[in-house]
Amino acid sequence: MKKRLLSLLVCLGLMAGCSAAEPQEAPSEPQPEKKIQIGLSFDSFVIERWQRDRDAFVARARELGAEVNVQNANGDVEEQIAQIEYLIEKDMDVIVIVAVDSQRLADTVKQAKREGIRVIAYDRLIRDAGVDLYISFDNERIGEMMGESIVANTPEDGKVFMMCGSPEDNNVSLVEKGFHSVVDRTDLEIVETAYADNWLAEIGFTTIGDYLDSGGELDAVMCGNDDIASQVIRALSERRLAGEVCVVGQDADLGGCQRIVEGTQTMTVYKSIEKLAMRAAENAVALARDGEIKTGGTYFDGTQEVPYIGLEPIAVTASNMQVIIDDGYHLEEDIYLNVNRAGVP
Ligand code: BGC
Repeated sequence: MKKRLLSLLVCLGLMAGCSAAEPQEAPSEPQPEKKIQIGLSFDSFVIERWQRDRDAFVARARELGAEVNVQNANGDVEEQIAQIEYLIEKDMDVIVIVAVDSQRLADTVKQAKREGIRVIAYDRLIRDAGVDLYISFDNERIGEMMGESIVANTPEDGKVFMMCGSPEDNNVSLVEKGFHSVVDRTDLEIVETAYADNWLAEIGFTTIGDYLDSGGELDAVMCGNDDIASQVIRALSERRLAGEVCVVGQDADLGGCQRIVEGTQTMTVYKSIEKLAMRAAENAVALARDGEIKTGGTYFDGTQEVPYIGLEPIAVTASNMQVIIDDGYHLEEDIYLNVNRAGVP
């Protein structure tokens, strides 16, 4: 009975709601399209390049009409997971991630995908997560370039130390793989392989210092990046060995380029951050619009093939430093701050 009364009341209410006598609401103004929301989660900003990545990405995304929410995990994977969860709650259209740890984000990424959010692994692969796009430089090629430079600048049976980056970063094993593919075919001896946890460059300083102080000999050091190279060269220079040992890195940090023209570092690998960040931003916006993304192929993430864009790195030594200047990456006067360019071979 109660039920019947209730439905009668509901019906009357509905009828009243539809009655022609009721004043009609004015047709609403067309709403401005909701801006695309992109979450951008960084490992940290300690290394010089990442601020460039952020600035170029944000600028391009804004140009394309998106808003970007930038998060910084300060090298802490738990913090990064919490930040990605926050971005999921905020209902981003796309989340772009520079993974602190390539193995430990799969569940969080899958959670985002269940919520209909598209995910891009930026610069570093996120393993077993089925991301919508992995965009990076060809990291194996970077390792090969480091190997080629050491082969060309070290005695045939020279001793090589591998001072790699964070073991949690998938790029590190790729660079190692590329490096071995070149060096293992030669008579060079790899005397030791060490890792800088969390990419802490100071580990390079103590590791190489300890190795030398315990009587270890060295002809070359392969460094995970230029930041590590700066500390390795500091350890060498305290022992009057800077310039005597071949040191290679990557990133074309300003300090790295300066050391190259000054003669304490042999080469760096230049990666055009602007190209990477802009391609990533354009693809993020395309994914948010459910548009097509154009990739060169796919990459196996440990479980499945994911769409992949791999950009080409460039090996830079004192003789082709002009590449960096022409690309507007650093100013000539900054690179040659402490040396006369005419005197650099
Ligand atoms: C990047 C390098 C960078 C390093 C430390 C790596 O994944 O490829 O360019 O120097 O992380 O941040």
